[in-house]
Amino acid sequence: MSLYKPETVICNGETFKVYLSEKQIQDRVVEIAKQLNRDYADKKPIFIGVLNGAFVFLSDLLRNVTIPSEVDFLKLSSYGDEKVSSGQVTDLKDIDANIEERHILLVEDIVDTGLSMKYMVNKLQRKNPASIATVTLLHKPEATHHDVPLDYVGFEIPSLFVLGYGLDYAQEGRNLAQIYILDGEQ
Ligand code: PRP
Repeated sequence: MSLYKPETVICNGETFKVYLSEKQIQDRVVEIAKQLNRDYADKKPIFIGVLNGAFVFLSDLLRNVTIPSEVDFLKLSSYGDEKVSSGQVTDLKDIDANIEERHILLVEDIVDTGLSMKYMVNKLQRKNPASIATVTLLHKPEATHHDVPLDYVGFEIPSLFVLGYGLDYAQEGRNLAQIYILDGEQ
């Protein structure tokens, strides 16, 4: 658990304020983990975390998962260092695990337009897993225009730029324990 939880923070010259507190996040992470413990009790799922953003959520989630499971990672980039999506997904790292006939839980920090999640589900589907379910801490329903199934969602949020708990602004701020929005918004 991070100790870095200021009320406001300046990141790349812009001021951000708390939007989701550490307690709100941690309580929801525990709820999702309990649900996964029930739903995947006999399935030995492979959690696939999407780097970089999902590493904080996934590590907290996994520490509340009590069933047999495995972990792997893949890496994509769609945002570069900007606040809006480039509209293109770049493959930066594939998974190492053989996922044929395995139950997959694809873990994201955020689903914005839905492009990344849709791209990954299609990509993993070609490797013939037994099932794929999606897990995301944050979802921006108003921004999502790609048709993508979301199975476990932590919080539905408005279309605001969010920072912290794995989410960055030009690579900074991932180490914040809480989730922040720009000061002056909402
Ligand atoms: C972010 C986030 C998702 C994606 C969501 O990744 O982690 O992967 O954008 O946006 P979308 O729904 O519009 O596709 P980013 O490309 O910023 O890389 P990062 O995880 O390394 O920060």
